[in-house]
Amino acid sequence: MEFTIKKITSPEKLQTGILVLGVFTDGKLPPSSRAVDEASQGRLARLIAHGELDAKPGAALLLHGLAGVAAERVLLVSLGQSDSGAPGDKAWRDAFAAAGKALAATPAKDGAIALDGETLPPGRGLDWALRQASRIIADSAYRFDAPRTEKKEKGAKKERGARKIAFALSAATVADRALEDAVRQGQAIAEGMALAKDLGNLGANICTPAHLADAAGALGKQFKFKVDILEREDMEKLGMGAFLAVARGARRSPKFIVMQYHGRHGRGDKAHKDKNADKDKNGRPRPVALVGKGITFDSGGISLKPGAEMDEMKYDMCGAASVIGAFKAIARMELPIDVVGIVPATENMPGSDATRPGDVVRSMSGQTIEILNTDAEGRLILCDALTYAERFKPDCVIDIATLTGACIVALGKIPSGLLANDDALAEELAQCGAAAGDPVWRLPLWEEYQDLLKSNFADMANIGGRFGGAITAAAFLSRFAKAYKWAHLDIAGTAWVSGEAKGSTARPLPLLAEFLLARAAGGEQPH
Ligand code: BES
Ligand code: MN
Ligand code: ZN
Repeated sequence: MEFTIKKITSPEKLQTGILVLGVFTDGKLPPSSRAVDEASQGRLARLIAHGELDAKPGAALLLHGLAGVAAERVLLVSLGQSDSGAPGDKAWRDAFAAAGKALAATPAKDGAIALDGETLPPGRGLDWALRQASRIIADSAYRFDAPRTEKKEKGAKKERGARKIAFALSAATVADRALEDAVRQGQAIAEGMALAKDLGNLGANICTPAHLADAAGALGKQFKFKVDILEREDMEKLGMGAFLAVARGARRSPKFIVMQYHGRHGRGDKAHKDKNADKDKNGRPRPVALVGKGITFDSGGISLKPGAEMDEMKYDMCGAASVIGAFKAIARMELPIDVVGIVPATENMPGSDATRPGDVVRSMSGQTIEILNTDAEGRLILCDALTYAERFKPDCVIDIATLTGACIVALGKIPSGLLANDDALAEELAQCGAAAGDPVWRLPLWEEYQDLLKSNFADMANIGGRFGGAITAAAFLSRFAKAYKWAHLDIAGTAWVSGEAKGSTARPLPLLAEFLLARAAGGEQPH
């Protein structure tokens, strides 16, 4: 998909396959829509007055061959009522999601979206808007190239969707590199999301630990960043007893993937001003470390899962996919920061040499763990990855994991769960999640929860009983994250959708990208 920014004075004269216009459903029209309305002798206002366009933000109405208007089609998208001033973030995003859907389905080859300053949510700038819009529109065009039998019959569906999209801004808008950057950023994030979605959607017979390692390696080659793959012997030498305890039930080899991206910190580069990033002794800002759970299939191991919907446990590597996808996005954006990506990858299978409930293992940190339930495997692979992360002296570590069903019970499927040992980091992530439309909600991590992990036979058990499962899982991880600021994102409810639209969402990649962008811009919050 190709995006451009166009400065225009007369949207009604724009030659394009489909022109997208935002309208308020109480009759107030933003400038671009007003111009098109006047050119069409008040047609838009009449349609809205007759209730042809649902008031709900994101409702859409497609018009063909509007008299007096150069565009072949006009898509009206509802921004809701104007009485509340401007649309909120959600209404605005719903409107763009509707535009994205229409642009992905249209037979038109090119399209334009009128973006009036008057329609921006309060406190949000045009760069924010362009970054969100280009991401949402590019992401709407995502299709999983499923390995289906090809149908070669005549009349097979033609490729649909506009490939060239222009953002039409008022000619009065100040010319600004930042706006071009914002469009490219959104596009880069969508590209990272497409990779993350592909990895998630692939069956576990194809998306194996080796496949994840290859995907990371290929990215490293393409964008010239370092990728190391540790093999089982390396993990044994490092003493990763917890990770290896999960891997031993599977015949496929585990992989421990380490990616290192060094952004260019040139002179005048704002990253040097980053108040969040302490310098190491060489004067380089400390890296952000991202750790992603890479269970390519979670059968539960000997504590076998029930059969219903077990296919969805192919998505248990979505944390890993979001980290790999984030690396694609930051490399494409050439962000001037340092980021380390760590992905412990294995299947969780009940092979004859699998770990049994009651087994005690020693983690890389030296702490011992009684494995009471082999289905609580995510924390076992993550704890060794968290210990491994220490060697990079990170400014902060964020782990991303489809960790607990209990998180879905607690929060539903709207926000990801957020738990952290640092309030400022938690707040920063919450802000970035809100800005990216990829929300998180914090759960407490009080000392009291630690008691639930007591074991008679080791330093801790790997499960904490019936209640507060998302929190006890994080409490377990926190014991391995004492050396740095750390946040944990439980994406069990947000990483994919079930049912008819089953598929990966690539969450929380939008949040991670917003966070890294803000860090690269000098620690300022996005706006
Ligand atoms: N991968 C699952 C968590 C999960 C379950 C994610 C359902 C998405 C949907 C994880 O490894 C797991 O099995 N967790 C257990 C922990 C329990 C044994 C303490 C769970 O949530 O049931
Ligand atoms: Mn499990
Ligand atoms: Zn799992």
